Amino acid sequence: MPVYLNGSYVPKEQAMVSVDDRGFVFGDGVYEVIRASNGRLFEPERHVRRLERSLREISLTLPEAELRGLIDVWRELLRANDVESGDAIVYMQVTRGAAPRAHQFPAAIRPTVFASAAAWTLPTALRTRGARVITVPDVRWSRCDIKTITLLPNVLAKQRAVEAGADEALFVRDGVVLEGAVSNFFAVIDGALCTHPLTTYILGGITRDVVLELASSAGIPIRETPILLDHISRATELFYTNTTNDVIPIVTVDSRVVADGLPGPITGRLYTALCARITAS
Ligand code: PDD
Repeated sequence: MPVYLNGSYVPKEQAMVSVDDRGFVFGDGVYEVIRASNGRLFEPERHVRRLERSLREISLTLPEAELRGLIDVWRELLRANDVESGDAIVYMQVTRGAAPRAHQFPAAIRPTVFASAAAWTLPTALRTRGARVITVPDVRWSRCDIKTITLLPNVLAKQRAVEAGADEALFVRDGVVLEGAVSNFFAVIDGALCTHPLTTYILGGITRDVVLELASSAGIPIRETPILLDHISRATELFYTNTTNDVIPIVTVDSRVVADGLPGPITGRLYTALCARITAS
């Protein structure tokens, strides 16, 4: 299965990255996860824009031509890996490159650019039954808006969820539910769709953006506002979103049942609308 590494397509087993790579040594890099359906990438330009922003925020420069060529690389990976039918995920990572270990940026090294594509199975059963989530203290840094590969707090939070028999962990900071370990978080409160505003404490999810657009087109009132953990009991629906899961209803939070304990109607409508957008893209 070919992957893309520094300008070439190579079989995965032959793809080599230096042990001096700053992604390996420091987690000094950024990434993207992009959805494809029947060979068509979902919102690829938005992913390129977010990647450009992440790169800018960590002062890492890719040549303009390489950035502009990324969408073609992702398409070629879908073709070369024979995942042009059904659902697939493209993973993309850029690190600052390989250099002897020193925290400060090394002089003039070439970034490591890696991408791969694989078939993806959507969590249909989870969507039908609804997710159980736990809350965890948000111990991450204060630049969660940058999609960095430095994901240890997210890894630990997700693992805690799995060990608790749950499906996702929600990060809580100062009493506010910010987002999930791998997703953005939404609540329906007093008939309005609420989600945390775009600040440095959450990742600006592509699915989040699209879901907000779909809600707006459907005439659902939207409030981008901090959601207090204490107010969750007032929510009639909760759900989370991301590229790999679409829209997942939440039925329990820390074992407390949300509303009537069933996936909610607004969640269902938004999921259906998102599927239509993905299929039409
Ligand atoms: N993660 N917030 C966090 C912390 C995330 O890791 C993700 C996605 C999102 C949702 O972003 P998007 O809608 O663009 O996928 C929000 C990806 C899927 C991952 O790390 O695998």
